[in-house]
Amino acid sequence: MQPLEIKKDIFWVGCVDYDHRDFHGYSMSPDGSTYNAYLVKDGKNVLFDTVAPNHAGVLLCRLAKVLPPEKVDYIVCNHMELDHAGVLAEIVERVKPEKIFLSQAGLKSLQGYYPDRNWPVQVVKSGETINIGKRNIVFQETRMLHWPDSMISYIPEDKLLISQDIFGQNIASSVRFADDFTDRGEFVKRIKEYYYNIVLPYSPIVLKALPIVEKLDIDMIAPDHGLIHRGVNGTRFIIDMYRTLAEQKPQKRALIIYDTMWRSTEHMAYAACSGLEENGVPTRIMFVKNNHHSAVMTELADCGAVLAGSPTHNNSILPLLAAQLTYMKGLRPLNRIGGAFGSYGWSGESPKIVQGHLASMNMELPCQPVSCNWRPGHEALKACHELGAKVAEALKKKCGG
Ligand code: FEO
Repeated sequence: MQPLEIKKDIFWVGCVDYDHRDFHGYSMSPDGSTYNAYLVKDGKNVLFDTVAPNHAGVLLCRLAKVLPPEKVDYIVCNHMELDHAGVLAEIVERVKPEKIFLSQAGLKSLQGYYPDRNWPVQVVKSGETINIGKRNIVFQETRMLHWPDSMISYIPEDKLLISQDIFGQNIASSVRFADDFTDRGEFVKRIKEYYYNIVLPYSPIVLKALPIVEKLDIDMIAPDHGLIHRGVNGTRFIIDMYRTLAEQKPQKRALIIYDTMWRSTEHMAYAACSGLEENGVPTRIMFVKNNHHSAVMTELADCGAVLAGSPTHNNSILPLLAAQLTYMKGLRPLNRIGGAFGSYGWSGESPKIVQGHLASMNMELPCQPVSCNWRPGHEALKACHELGAKVAEALKKKCGG
């Protein structure tokens, strides 16, 4: 259990959690995650963030291989969510820091999670700088990326940005640097997964924050989860990728999500898929019973259109599709085209309800919802094919051909 020196006298002292699956309590992390914490050795020794509950021992073990824990002078809490601050009491007890630096909103979280603690906290604001010896730390608040308290720490002498959750990914690995991680496809997928399930609602704020980051002279971005981005190419890659993800420009690809009882709505989904594909739009179908809601969101990162279907159930829609649409709406995707469909036995409300969900996400809806009584025959499947074809045409137009 060794620390890793990522720059001279700057060490990764975090924890790799291969068993973590329920990231932040709602998003899947299929291969675990990493809670990164960083230790800077200087005139003042500084620990940036801590780790998730039950992992304090790992952090202290790594840290102790660099210096005795009681030699840590400062703790910087860039983000007070409990995967970074859940062991703060244990660490503070052991380290007895001279100061804990955090944002004003971070102080509120700290007082909420750790009431009645008389810790030596110091609130910092954007642009505030502290000197720790040979180095300075410049704080920059990044409110709502993704919590009110969030901030990033920049060390100009090392061209290092310690970025808390921003630019992170849920990857558990013995590799620490992105350029050493050989599965590039997996790396990119995990960035999308993280962004689309955690950061997406704050995309307008991301677009305002990126120019601030780009003004910094950096050659390393060290997030609180996953792999560290290193070198001009590595830092440029993740910044550009964040811009692409935040802009949500239309992409010529479609996602169909559905639930089904006796497979009628499933047949409708596949007919709509044919309509999309035969009109030049690659499409992914995801049955919500077989796909976690966060995997669906990850897929949406590459899709400019969403078609959703449910049979009518108790005058409404099936609960898993309702949950998926509610989750999706909360993450505020922008700039999508939508389409709705569904089968019914008697009352038949579901397609309109689904269409209402899509409308509530401000999706462009080129077609009326398609419904089908009992089992879809030729006419109903043709209507679904046409739905797919019309959405494909609308999407291609939006994408510019
Ligand atoms: Fe990784 Fe929002 O905490």
